[in-house]
Amino acid sequence: MEPVSRRRMLQVGGALGALGALSATTSAQAAPWSWSPMGSVAGAGAGTDPRWVWDEEADPLVASLLDRGDAPLVNRVLRTWTRNGQPLPDGLPADVHQFIQRARQLPSWVDQGKLATAVQFNEKRGLYLGVLYGLASGMMSTVIPKEARAVYYSEGGADMKDRISKTAKLGYDIGTANAYQPTGSMIVTAVKTRLAHAGVRHLLPQSPRWVAVAPEDIPISQRDMMVTWHSLPTTVMRQLNAWRVPIPTRESTAFLHLWQVAAHMLGIKDEYIPATWSEANAQADQVLDPVLAPTPEGIALADILLDLGKEIDAGILSKPILGSFTRFLLGNQIANWLQIPREPLWDTLLQTAWGPFIAVREALLPLPLAPPSYWLFDEFLRKLALLFLSEGQQINIEIPLGNRPS
Ligand code: HEM
Repeated sequence: MEPVSRRRMLQVGGALGALGALSATTSAQAAPWSWSPMGSVAGAGAGTDPRWVWDEEADPLVASLLDRGDAPLVNRVLRTWTRNGQPLPDGLPADVHQFIQRARQLPSWVDQGKLATAVQFNEKRGLYLGVLYGLASGMMSTVIPKEARAVYYSEGGADMKDRISKTAKLGYDIGTANAYQPTGSMIVTAVKTRLAHAGVRHLLPQSPRWVAVAPEDIPISQRDMMVTWHSLPTTVMRQLNAWRVPIPTRESTAFLHLWQVAAHMLGIKDEYIPATWSEANAQADQVLDPVLAPTPEGIALADILLDLGKEIDAGILSKPILGSFTRFLLGNQIANWLQIPREPLWDTLLQTAWGPFIAVREALLPLPLAPPSYWLFDEFLRKLALLFLSEGQQINIEIPLGNRPS
């Protein structure tokens, strides 16, 4: 049985009770960890429950930066570090410089051939990936209780558009043709995210509001990281399979590899990263599906996400469409948890038209000009979405300096 912290014991009566009607569903518990490290990219490991593992290198470093007041300087200096192959800018404290030089190294098991195949996969399926990352993974994050609470009470929770633009940057960078090449940006984005997560681990335990509702003492364990990871590639692949999108095995393996490398670069230990799709699905069955549940914080975040189009059309069309898409992708239970109203028109349209839309798109794929023209169109949409979210500003992923102010 997992250890129960003193703080947790004090909370049980008060906080859960205060959640009222939600308490029954939010108490969805994670199963004990039994996934074997034999199924990981490392092929071996101690098998420790990753709930008790965080980031032993980045966490003390970033805690020290925050405590000694160096985090603003590091954020400022790192704004000019944007490309994987670029040397680190001058002016970083020596310990940060040393950490990043280690953290930016790709794992020994990286397979450039698979990464090249992943480019073909992204080229052909860019539109689906955009929809799925944004609406399936993005909305799913609001029913992952630990993530929803961490996001809500952290600094970024107060400005969701800015936060989403930063998360969307990762989705964008991993989908570019040169993601892990010297001219790409995914290594930089992953390392900066690793630093941001380490900052959250130090700061959130100082937030009385987070402490009052969170069952854990330190957020973003390696197990939480894998839960969120499954809300991304595993959920995307499950949905593509459900839509019967025909994906050659070498392409689905390559897509998995893209995300295996991302997991490593985000600081997840190799012994927790699934080596194959069947191992990934087995792990997701164990760690993702059982923890999904509504929380007041997740409901609030979902509402903000669905309101994102408000600036463009006052929410008249965008909110019902995004809500309907969420119901279509994640199902009635999750949509109901998130208090998304039914939209008879859009719900019916998606049920009837999405399948044929995919079928037509897939049928045209063998035509010689289809993949590049799909890619041009999808790339245009991806860039446009990012531009809207970032309001035309450069997107900088940074170490947070505090928690949600209000
Ligand atoms: C920050 C991605 C897992 C909570 C970020 C950022 C990215 C990101 C790109 C930078 C955006 C920003 O600074 O706002 C990911 C990926 C994950 C993952 C790809 C797993 C594969 C998690 C988990 C949690 C979490 C498991 C919580 C349980 C946060 C929080 C921030 C953050 C609170 C900082 C927001 C702030 O600025 O205050 N993450 N994340 N993340 N992430 Fe994650």
